[in-house]
Amino acid sequence: MNKRIALSSDHAAIDLRRAIAAHIETLGWEPVDIGPTSPESTHYPTHGQAAAALVASGDCRLGIVLCGTGQGIMMAANKVAGIRCGVCSETFSAKMIRAHNNANMLSIGARVVGSDLAIEIVEAFLTTEFEGGRHATRVDMLEA
Ligand code: RB5
Repeated sequence: MNKRIALSSDHAAIDLRRAIAAHIETLGWEPVDIGPTSPESTHYPTHGQAAAALVASGDCRLGIVLCGTGQGIMMAANKVAGIRCGVCSETFSAKMIRAHNNANMLSIGARVVGSDLAIEIVEAFLTTEFEGGRHATRVDMLEA
């Protein structure tokens, strides 16, 4: 199984992105952290699109993106065909976007949640499988 996870953020979430990359590696995933590395102000659409392209192409199985709220970079990721990205600030939603929506990307707001909760959200996302069945019909409708 492809264990590669694309990670990107804007300037607001560099530290949290790095912490998540380090943590998921301890869980057996292969983080593909495409930056940015500089704390200078940057533009979340660029970074969201770049991570989403890695997931849409199949290079990475899943993706995790972060910005201040998680909202802007989620919107950018969802502009890429085949991407289903949700913003999560708690673990229930992180499980449900996998189980019911077959989300292939997770977005987190670094100015919204603390680092410990962010890690729990990531773990909930990565350990939940899509349930299929009636949910597959709806996901197919999203993609149509
Ligand atoms: C940057 O200041 C901020 O607007 C960005 O990180 C994000 O929150 C946008 O959705």
